[in-house]
Amino acid sequence: METSWFSPLGDVVFVEKTADGALLGVGEEKFRVDVLRPDLLRLKISQAGTFDENPTFAACFQVSGAPPFRLIEDEASITIDTGRVRLLISRRPFGLSAYRSDGSVIFEDQRDEAGGGGYLRLNDSFIVTRRITPHDSIYGLGEKTGHFDRRGRKFILWNTDVLAPNVLQRNHLHEADTTLTGKSTRFDPYYTSIPFFYHCRADADGAKMAGFFIDNGYKASVDFEKRNTYSFSFSGGQYTEYVFAGPSMSDILAAYTFVTGRMAAPPIWALGHHQCRFHDYTDEGILDIGRAYRERKIPCDVLWLDIGYMNGFRVFTWDSDKFPDVPAMIAQMKADKLRLVTIIDPGVKAESGYSVFDEGRAKNLFCKTEAGQLYVGQVWPGRTVFPDFVRPDVRAWWAELNRRHVESGVAGIWIDMNEPATGDVEPFAMRFDRDASNHAHERYHNQYALLMAMSTHRGLSAANPGLRCFILSRAGFAGIQRYAAQWLGDNVSDWDHLRMSIPMAMAMGISGQPFIGADIPGFSAKPTPELAARWMQYGAMTPFCRCHNEAGERDQYPWSFGPGVEKRSRAALELRYRLLPYIYSAFMRSSETGDPIQRPLVYDFQHDRHARETDDAYLFGDALLVAPVLAPGQTARHVYLPQGTWVDWYTGERHAGGQFITAAAPLDRIPLFARGGRIIPAYATAPSSTMDHYPEVLELHLIVPDEDGEFFSQLHEDDGITSGFQSGAFRRTTFCLTRQNDRVRVSARVAGHGFPEFRRRALRLVFHGCSVDRLELQGGEIRVNGGLVEIENRGEGFELSFLV
Ligand code: GLC
Repeated sequence: METSWFSPLGDVVFVEKTADGALLGVGEEKFRVDVLRPDLLRLKISQAGTFDENPTFAACFQVSGAPPFRLIEDEASITIDTGRVRLLISRRPFGLSAYRSDGSVIFEDQRDEAGGGGYLRLNDSFIVTRRITPHDSIYGLGEKTGHFDRRGRKFILWNTDVLAPNVLQRNHLHEADTTLTGKSTRFDPYYTSIPFFYHCRADADGAKMAGFFIDNGYKASVDFEKRNTYSFSFSGGQYTEYVFAGPSMSDILAAYTFVTGRMAAPPIWALGHHQCRFHDYTDEGILDIGRAYRERKIPCDVLWLDIGYMNGFRVFTWDSDKFPDVPAMIAQMKADKLRLVTIIDPGVKAESGYSVFDEGRAKNLFCKTEAGQLYVGQVWPGRTVFPDFVRPDVRAWWAELNRRHVESGVAGIWIDMNEPATGDVEPFAMRFDRDASNHAHERYHNQYALLMAMSTHRGLSAANPGLRCFILSRAGFAGIQRYAAQWLGDNVSDWDHLRMSIPMAMAMGISGQPFIGADIPGFSAKPTPELAARWMQYGAMTPFCRCHNEAGERDQYPWSFGPGVEKRSRAALELRYRLLPYIYSAFMRSSETGDPIQRPLVYDFQHDRHARETDDAYLFGDALLVAPVLAPGQTARHVYLPQGTWVDWYTGERHAGGQFITAAAPLDRIPLFARGGRIIPAYATAPSSTMDHYPEVLELHLIVPDEDGEFFSQLHEDDGITSGFQSGAFRRTTFCLTRQNDRVRVSARVAGHGFPEFRRRALRLVFHGCSVDRLELQGGEIRVNGGLVEIENRGEGFELSFLV
């Protein structure tokens, strides 16, 4: 961005210590630092002398008083020292830098000749420029195309329906690369904007990361293209930045999700397989799809209805010709152990006589233009108006509409077109009311989906008190993870989009959104049978696993590509369903810690250069390494295995980490490696659905490491659907596996007081990649046959040991 007209703030004119940090006068403005935790600072700059204390709806934390810190003043600078972080503020001119207690850099302003220039402003916009070295990496920013490492590119944060007509011109996105179309794997901007990133500095001894969250919802440009500086500029709003000292990526993510919240515990059925299609189903048509899943013995939990179920795309209505008896249809689904999710768009058809429109207009609940008229955009039903979700009364109204909509038994809601997409009409005339003032569109555009998700969540919670909610959203902003899962929007059935979805999903994971997945096997275009099989194998190993395709395309059900793809899809989904106890435990953990589920290798192996550079493979949970096949005809692929022991899930072959291997990838399977030391819980057989599945036998897969050490794993069990776990109705087993020379010990400790559906009577131990013929359990000896042994267990802790 051209910054020659921008100006600095000036010199520091006063300094005051506050209870939480410090307040400084800088030129005619104020700068404030709040010490939130020893490793977490919030920096703010006022506009016209006033601070905006609620810049967005992203932050949701509470702190009770600042931790101890020191404020040290000298002639040239002011230092805030928390013990973990030293923030250095230079006085003349005002400038910032921050260091860890070991002296390593968290950030440093880029200074011009006069010594200033880190923060510049013009009218309502500002730009921050900082130093970077050519070999540093940048990660994060949520849903972006391209490589996982963001260096070498510029990005725009402006929630965008990438397939909207004339998308670049419509939204004034001329800074973006105008040679691209929304289907390009380099297109930017995307549906979701998350102004949060990691700056990673590495040397021969390892890597240190710092995190930065700019709490501002306006359109932003972020520039990581230059060799020695990076910058971010926002077109409006105030500078509010959270600075995370790290130095590990997982510390930063834990702190970032402390600030913006964590995914609510999902219902277990949302982790099953979902079948969706943009298609004109009737009730019998969708029930037939469910029956086909059952007849063909392909696991599935959820059927979805896209916009075709509505009466003329009017939200909160049903086409009663096609769906004459919705509760009866849902009851039939339930009998087949299936649930139903329906779509709801924010665009309300502008049509007198349609009750949602009439009521919203009468109560003044829709967005207006500056002149006070209803803002009209274009979505599926044609001319549409948009609820003003910034207002709490509008969120309450929409929540109530949702509550009534799901009374028929609908299990979850899919919210779409919530960038908001306005089709052929520019969005800018759409304004928002807050605190009785009329706000420009830019202020809330990027937060529209977050607010819609908040309101929908409220409606579902009211409809089903005590049950967990499931919402899927297309667009999002920082904090969306508290209310909704997300998918990666309208992708294309080609190998490039399959490849791209890996770094994109991993980046969402490290940007606070763990519940993520791409349409399988691509939304638009026609996948080859091979791509369909490969995508299903990959999709079955991602957090959100849903088949979807565009209207007018040919069938893309797992059985639509012939018996070969059907068999492979079944096998892939059976593997997912067998692994559900493991996947579910990873989700429950993520809801407590913020850990990603589809996680980049750098998350666990930050000091390993190859791990930092890997963006075509990932860990699914913390114990399985997945290396999808990304090209046609490929029957083997290069896989980097980080430090440790890795055991081929299918063959039991052991590999020492810290090397690249060539993994066999025959069409029947996706390369999958289990991490030494971990214990992976699984069902003994794949259920067709999670509904009422509380088996008597649970498998524990023991992945014995080659190296000595102590390794922890967790199994979380509860009813999977209610919030009973919050008051102790769960069983959580923490396993500690220790290897010392040839002796392996496992101890299991159990917390929680259990839940009524718990039926377990035995654990089946499965040993991977080593031969064990006897083991000691609570002092007694037991024989192991063929790598398997079943031990009686009704949820108690135990101690066992064996020799390898
Ligand atoms: C949007 C969604 C897509 C959906 C379609 C119709 O394009 O991204 O998933 O099928 O709208 O509702």
